[in-house]
Amino acid sequence: MTLSLSNFSNIDRLTTRLLSNTFKKMHILRQIKCLNIILLTTAIVGTSELITVNLITDSVLKSVNGYARTYKNLMAFLSAKLELDDMGECKGMGRCGTCQIRIENDCSLIGDYDGNEINTLKMLGNIDPKVRLACKIYFNEQIDNMVISII
Ligand code: FES
Repeated sequence: MTLSLSNFSNIDRLTTRLLSNTFKKMHILRQIKCLNIILLTTAIVGTSELITVNLITDSVLKSVNGYARTYKNLMAFLSAKLELDDMGECKGMGRCGTCQIRIENDCSLIGDYDGNEINTLKMLGNIDPKVRLACKIYFNEQIDNMVISII
């Protein structure tokens, strides 16, 4: 077999074409990856329901909104949205009682006391079933349209 200059030229052209196709494929793969991320983000946000919490302060009703499960609990939501520096001293351990709230409407969907909640409330003298610790209430669809006052 003899190798001529034209053979090298053909190999060079072939290599260039192969590399070009590889780069095109890589570019397409990158675009697909980006599209997947966008679709995943849309799916996550799309499944989160907008939650409204109605807060009574000085006889005035104020509505505050946030997406379900974007906050660890109701205390984290209230603390972030209302910039309440004195709420959540124990960071949600259910021990300090700085996140006490009174639920002003039906609270049957919220569920039972969690962890230290009942002991802390008893220690603080609050045995009213409408008084709860916001750090022990999940920020999900079950609290949508809840009416509360901060104690
Ligand atoms: S944050 Fe301390 S009891 Fe809720």
